[in-house]
Amino acid sequence: MTAKLRVAVFPVAGLGTRFLPATKAMPKEMLTVVDRPIIQYAVDEAKEAGIEHFVFVTGRNKAVIEDHFDRQFELEHTLEQRGKTEALELLQTDLPEPGKTSFTRQQEPLGLGHAVWCARQLVGNEPFALLLPDMIFKAQPGVLSQMVKAYEQHGGNVVAVEEVDPAEVSSYGIVGRGDGPDEAFEITEMVEKPEPKDAPSNLIISGRYILQPEIFKLIENQPRGAGGEIQITDAMQALMGQQRFTGVKYEGRVFDCGSKIGFLSANAAFALDRPDLSAEFLQELHQIIRAAKR
Ligand code: G1P
Repeated sequence: MTAKLRVAVFPVAGLGTRFLPATKAMPKEMLTVVDRPIIQYAVDEAKEAGIEHFVFVTGRNKAVIEDHFDRQFELEHTLEQRGKTEALELLQTDLPEPGKTSFTRQQEPLGLGHAVWCARQLVGNEPFALLLPDMIFKAQPGVLSQMVKAYEQHGGNVVAVEEVDPAEVSSYGIVGRGDGPDEAFEITEMVEKPEPKDAPSNLIISGRYILQPEIFKLIENQPRGAGGEIQITDAMQALMGQQRFTGVKYEGRVFDCGSKIGFLSANAAFALDRPDLSAEFLQELHQIIRAAKR
């Protein structure tokens, strides 16, 4: 029997330099895709997969994320008075249960591995999901739910992967593929941001992980890796000597909202999926495209 997955960690300490000046005073995780902040998509995906406790690793200038996951009585009261019940209900369903969010800070930008390590006391001795909020998915069921299936079958650690153009591998963590089907294959190795000639495949780590708590000790002993940072990929490679890692080539599409093209495309794709927006927005898009071609 595998231990139930109850906790998720969201590293949200990054500076968001690629989105300056928008992110000068506002966390990049609060930029909106249609009318929901980026962070909400990852939290919704975690909730759908059965996560109960949401741990955020934040930094300076990120306090508004904590406010976002709290009640706002004045606003609720005003909406109630004005009979805006739909908006009110939306606010309430988006909230994690009381006492089920935790916030800690990464005091120095030492890398993703270090950010995860900062959550060790809050996670304790149980498996946890790790969701990098920049990556948002259109997937049904959600990517973490697809991974939970593989986790229930194999236990251990699970990583979501997808194929990219081989020229792009040096921007990501890359896995080596062993035996098993797309839904759950054995990972044979992992390397962070390799040169294309050194990459074991073109399968990238897509920002969703299920990890066993033994990873924390390994992060602690990790020397700095790619980019001079403490890398979660290096700690996972070390843990692979002791535990299984399963790859899930998920069904769905990713938008990397850490890049401007990914962010803009996510806005278009999610808006076109909304019954209240799609028809009108599509018309506008056609016009914009026609004008751009002139
Ligand atoms: C991080 C991980 C990398 C992963 C990527 C997904 O890199 O280190 O393994 O493929 O996220 O977005 P970063 O984007 O923080 O450089």
